[in-house]
Amino acid sequence: MSNGQDTGRQLANRQGHPITNNQSQRTIGSRGPATLENYQFLEKISHFDRERIPERVVHARGFVAYGDFEATGKIGDEPASKYTRAKLFQEAGKKTELAIRFSTVIGGRDSSEAARDPRGFAVKFYTEDGNWDLVGNNLAVFFIRDAIKFPDVIHSLKPDPVTFRQEPNRILDFMSQTPESMHMLTHLFSPRGIPASYRHMEGFGVNTYKMVNAQGKTSLVKYHFHPRCGIASLTEEEAAKVQGQDLGSASKDLYESIERGDYPQWDMFVQIMEDHDHPELDWDPLDDTKIWPEDQFPLRHMGVMTLNRNVQDFHNENEQIAMGTGVLVDGLDFSDDKMLIGRTFSYSDTQRYRVGPNYLQLPVNQPKGVKGKVYTNQRGGEMSYGVDLAPGQNPHVNYEPSIHNGLHEADREEPNNPPEVSGRLTRSVIERRNDYIQARARYNTMMDWERDELINVLGGMMQSCELDVQERMLWHLFLVHDDYGSRVGQMIGMKADDVRHLQPLPKQVLTEEDKRRLEKLG
Ligand code: HEM
Repeated sequence: MSNGQDTGRQLANRQGHPITNNQSQRTIGSRGPATLENYQFLEKISHFDRERIPERVVHARGFVAYGDFEATGKIGDEPASKYTRAKLFQEAGKKTELAIRFSTVIGGRDSSEAARDPRGFAVKFYTEDGNWDLVGNNLAVFFIRDAIKFPDVIHSLKPDPVTFRQEPNRILDFMSQTPESMHMLTHLFSPRGIPASYRHMEGFGVNTYKMVNAQGKTSLVKYHFHPRCGIASLTEEEAAKVQGQDLGSASKDLYESIERGDYPQWDMFVQIMEDHDHPELDWDPLDDTKIWPEDQFPLRHMGVMTLNRNVQDFHNENEQIAMGTGVLVDGLDFSDDKMLIGRTFSYSDTQRYRVGPNYLQLPVNQPKGVKGKVYTNQRGGEMSYGVDLAPGQNPHVNYEPSIHNGLHEADREEPNNPPEVSGRLTRSVIERRNDYIQARARYNTMMDWERDELINVLGGMMQSCELDVQERMLWHLFLVHDDYGSRVGQMIGMKADDVRHLQPLPKQVLTEEDKRRLEKLG
């Protein structure tokens, strides 16, 4: 309450009226009734009633931090310009401001940060050419390879629409009909599925993107971030203890580490492939259920990301930050990865609904790396505030072209080398699916304790599933690896014998190796 001093921190309402009494609403007499012309009270309560915006449909719980990216000027040992003309990568020591939002995927806004779940790793680079959003995860691959299946995979992972509980039987029902998910499941149910904190996890772009150089030559690329403080994960048992005490353990760790000046850092790398369909590979470079083996496609260092500043307001900067895969700068491009194209529609679509059509006017989303102001002919829409007129711009001209002092196109030739596309319209799956090969490689390279944890977690989950789901899941696991199938089978009291009657799924394409394994089973 005021002590009568002028502190410069006087409370007001949004109309600019000073608030002299914030303790009592206006009533007739000290015991009421209250009056309806009580503007100050009504404004306070009705704003409060609208404090929340819809939470994200996925990745609802997350935490933002700020920092910068310092480029090496190179991609591995070569000048960055060989592969991309994107300005942020060109000079050694060049720094670009950024915001990053880490998140869990399935739980709501107040859910546990020690849950078994992929983690979001979404970076907004405020470059001098405008924003670049790299919206990635902590696991290198994904459950599905076509965006049309995204609502289904998410529905299976989200709580049951009737009981509102996350149900192993629903999750594995979907996954058992989706063989391409076996690789992701093998990552997710291993200890990597519960990172110890946001500071101790990797980041992956997951989808395949392109880089474009000044000559218009394109390359296919995958992005990686490695944490300098190492990777650390929790076992189920450790995670249970953490979440028993604190649902927000990862945000707390990140916030406190930045507050005490212990700034987390990640090295950024890229893998590169020539831009064509690579018939020599037995998997498709545009398939996000696959990694690119590092012995064939080495990691090339590009720079270092440092986080050194916390948000000032959770709602403004975390709830309203909006990132999407369509937000690219000159020198970086999409590939035809069928997930990426679907994602690119989905992000800005949901953000217009979740935050509002003018979400890009909010400070956290503005392209603040661009020198000078940004002018557009966009007008109107909910919550539009102010119009950025260019110096000398005729305020009547919000269209282009015009000879009456309107905005005009940028005066530069765009180096343009668009791919030539031809083919029949179709609905089909990519040919080189090879759904089990990389899950097998992953299983083989795990440390013993990681494999033990994977078997316990996945087997434990399968124990509560119905018989038909158990059988089909086990069938896939035997196709991935005998040992994987036998050990999970032991946990649910089943053997290869119990699943050999199953035929491949309708439309499932098996490789020669898969067929050999299936025969062994039979
Ligand atoms: C968030 C859609 C696949 C990473 C979201 C959101 C949607 C969405 C609607 C909420 C965005 C918002 O409200 O601001 C999709 C669709 C996908 C897909 C349709 C597949 C077709 C992926 C994949 C990754 C990923 C493969 C990992 C590479 C993220 C991250 C966020 C997110 C990190 C949170 C962004 C933030 O922190 O604001 N996704 N997603 N998504 N998605 Fe996806």
